[in-house]
Amino acid sequence: MSINITKVKYYPELAEVAELADKIWHEFFVSILSGGQIDYMVEKFQSLNAMTEQIENQRYSYFAVREDGELIGYIGMKPEQDDRFFLSKLYLRSDKRGRGTASLMMKRVFEEAVKSGKNRVYLTVNKHNDHAVAVYKKIGFSIIDDVVTDIGSGYVMDDYIMEYTL
Ligand SMILES: CC(C)(COP(=O)(O)OP(=O)(O)OC[C@H]1O[C@@H](n2cnc3c(N)ncnc32)[C@H](O)[C@@H]1OP(=O)(O)O)[C@@H](O)C(=O)NCCC(=O)NCCS
Repeated sequence: MSINITKVKYYPELAEVAELADKIWHEFFVSILSGGQIDYMVEKFQSLNAMTEQIENQRYSYFAVREDGELIGYIGMKPEQDDRFFLSKLYLRSDKRGRGTASLMMKRVFEEAVKSGKNRVYLTVNKHNDHAVAVYKKIGFSIIDDVVTDIGSGYVMDDYIMEYTL
């Protein structure tokens, strides 16, 4: 297998990422969140409109993860105003998990953070997402805090904040 991770630059590719995000979120989060919350969060954070706005106004970058040309995952990230880099999204298609690809994806995140002159990478992860928490710990992240975020329409995100010092 040949994995390539490239920055998403064009509208058709971002539309492809939005389609994959919709599939992964509805497949993965059913055991953690209600269907209504998944629909709401996909529209608010991962729809084509939402990601376009993040890229244009919030300094986000999205990266496409391809295996032999096929889109199998994506990463979202952005530099903060301080010395931190925010890993916002790290997602792989279910049939492509468990092969070490997340480590390659994280390597790319760290490279982008260094390029931006940052010293720390942080992320938020749902407290019940045991696998992701274990992967992040294995890679070297530590839980530094937890936070409950009101995202509107009666929904909240109940997350750990994890951080890695570069
Ligand atoms: C989170 C996600 C991207 C991780 O990808 P993955 O393919 O499952 O993880 P990998 O197989 O690449 O594992 C990464 C590293 O963690 C290690 N690891 C995996 N599971 C582990 C566990 N339960 N305990 C300890 N280490 C573990 C692997 O050995 C690997 O380390 P290595 O490269 O040094 O061998 C993927 O599971 C996913 O998309 N999940 C659904 C969406 C999600 O939860 N996204 C994150 C939201 S915050």
